[in-house]
Amino acid sequence: MCGIVGYTGHRDAYPVVIKGLKRLEYRGYDSAGVALHEKTLRVYKKMGKVADLEEHAVGKDISGKTGIGHTRWATHGEPSDRNAHPHLSSSGKLAMIHNGIIENYAQLKKELTQKGYEFKSDTDTEVLLNFIDEIKQNNSCSLEEAIRVALKRVTGAYVILLLDAENPDTIIAARKGSPLVIGVGKGEHFLGSDASPMLEYTKEVVYVNDYELAIVKPDELILKNLGNEKLTPYVQKLDIELAAIEKGGYDHFMLKEIFEQPRTIYDCLRGRLDASKNKITLSGIEQYAKEICAANRIIMIACGTSWHAGLTAEYIFEECCRINVEVEYASEFRYRNPIINPGDVIIAISQSGETADTLVAIENAKAKGAIILGVVNVVGSSIARMSHAGAYTHAGPEIGVASTKAFTAQLAVLSMIALKIAQLKGTLSAERINTLLNELEAIPEKVESILANTEPIKKIAQQYATARDFLYLGRGTNFPVALEGALKLKEISYIHAEGYPAAEMKHGPIALVDENLPVVFVATKDSYHEKVLSNMQEIRARKGKVISVITEEDETAANLSESVMQVPPCDEMLAPLLTVVPLQLLSYYIGVARGCDVDKPRNLAKSVTVE
Ligand code: G6P
Repeated sequence: MCGIVGYTGHRDAYPVVIKGLKRLEYRGYDSAGVALHEKTLRVYKKMGKVADLEEHAVGKDISGKTGIGHTRWATHGEPSDRNAHPHLSSSGKLAMIHNGIIENYAQLKKELTQKGYEFKSDTDTEVLLNFIDEIKQNNSCSLEEAIRVALKRVTGAYVILLLDAENPDTIIAARKGSPLVIGVGKGEHFLGSDASPMLEYTKEVVYVNDYELAIVKPDELILKNLGNEKLTPYVQKLDIELAAIEKGGYDHFMLKEIFEQPRTIYDCLRGRLDASKNKITLSGIEQYAKEICAANRIIMIACGTSWHAGLTAEYIFEECCRINVEVEYASEFRYRNPIINPGDVIIAISQSGETADTLVAIENAKAKGAIILGVVNVVGSSIARMSHAGAYTHAGPEIGVASTKAFTAQLAVLSMIALKIAQLKGTLSAERINTLLNELEAIPEKVESILANTEPIKKIAQQYATARDFLYLGRGTNFPVALEGALKLKEISYIHAEGYPAAEMKHGPIALVDENLPVVFVATKDSYHEKVLSNMQEIRARKGKVISVITEEDETAANLSESVMQVPPCDEMLAPLLTVVPLQLLSYYIGVARGCDVDKPRNLAKSVTVE
């Protein structure tokens, strides 16, 4: 949450920072601001999106070769001009941006207020900034030293970037619990919450770790720990192309990402799966093969859409590997003193690799001796680094706030892990494994065929775009898909939607059914099919509008539905990789029909780095 950008070098900082902020807007977009330095330190900030900030800055002095910028997802204080970052210290000499939460800010604020400080905003950021400035002035020390002292008192999570009026070309940055990447160029450095702001200038990056401080000048990058010891920056080469973070002719990132799925699933399987040889290669996971096979329990930990991937994988793992699986919301797991037994294996699932709750949950479990495997999309992210081993999902950058291609890539990876373990444990016959591997290999092509026929989905979207509520129902592996369909719809269209196991619907939600309620069934031909058809009848008997995702040419299901979205036949274990796609499209088209900003839905952020 919140995107941060910094630049110091030979270019004009403002355009670099603005462009970078636009790339990071997926992290938050309720206000934005920049601080620029050249002779004088200037701050411009505005409620709204980065485009509003640009308008606000027209005609103002935007010169300067050093600058920092911020796009906000509000935590302390409503979205407004005065709560927008950067903040200026009371002395006017320091400007700071911050991503994270300072948990003990109230205590620090009290101390500063007693010393006569007044605050212009409601933010924890302004408090920390003045706390740093106070230490700097009191001790007549350098900004770097003041930050080090201040951070020892701070509890919470942060990435902070500071400009000092007395030190025109230097940005000082520090991190704990929120991401920070530094791009290394020739006579210039870039800073960002992720690598996207620097991608068109350099591919050499340094990932800053927790409790590290960076002093960044055009020609020099000094990395230190909070004990003031110098560290050697580890420069890595990025493996992302610029095209991957641009819309490429699509109206929205979300649509582009939905349409990328045949490719991203293929990329995820490539080099790992060879059905002709009945072979799965997942080197990260194989290092821990013995421990996983011996595990009594696998705990999947995740949030949001990634949690739905875990829930789907529960069905697959239990069926294929005969291991007990529990799926946990990271935010609940981390706080309830969970029981971790020796030999428990944890699978952390995360697109961003930065979700604060997931990160802390696995950190705690690791301290208690659990083996942590990461199923993560962003290479080098905090969760990937915290894990003992894992398998990247290789879906490429996902920019639309509502997750789509990351979900199918997670399912593809989790399916491969389950099949690998089943193979090692001998819990599935070689023949059954071969059938499933062939099915997996065929998924990209089948997704392609769903995407080739979007007209019926567009029509359904037009018809139901004004509905007030939706109910999504499914059984077996299609139950988590129903949850995911409902989540997608509420995220981007703001229509209230609930997902339920189709049978459980009788224990409550059926009371909602009338002629105005669209009920989406995920009803492909599987072992539950007859039962789901009966559930459809129950909805029809109460005049609910049945919309269904069905297997091609399933006339029985089609006859029970007002509208259908079809997917090719598929083994039920892997069906979610197909059935989720029409639901993603349905949400997208409904969101667009309602005039919603589908890539940046209100109040949401893509990377939730606060708990
Ligand atoms: C946010 C995003 C969701 C995502 C969830 C978990 O809520 O808007 O799309 O599923 O975080 O994020 P992660 O990066 O850990 O998968």
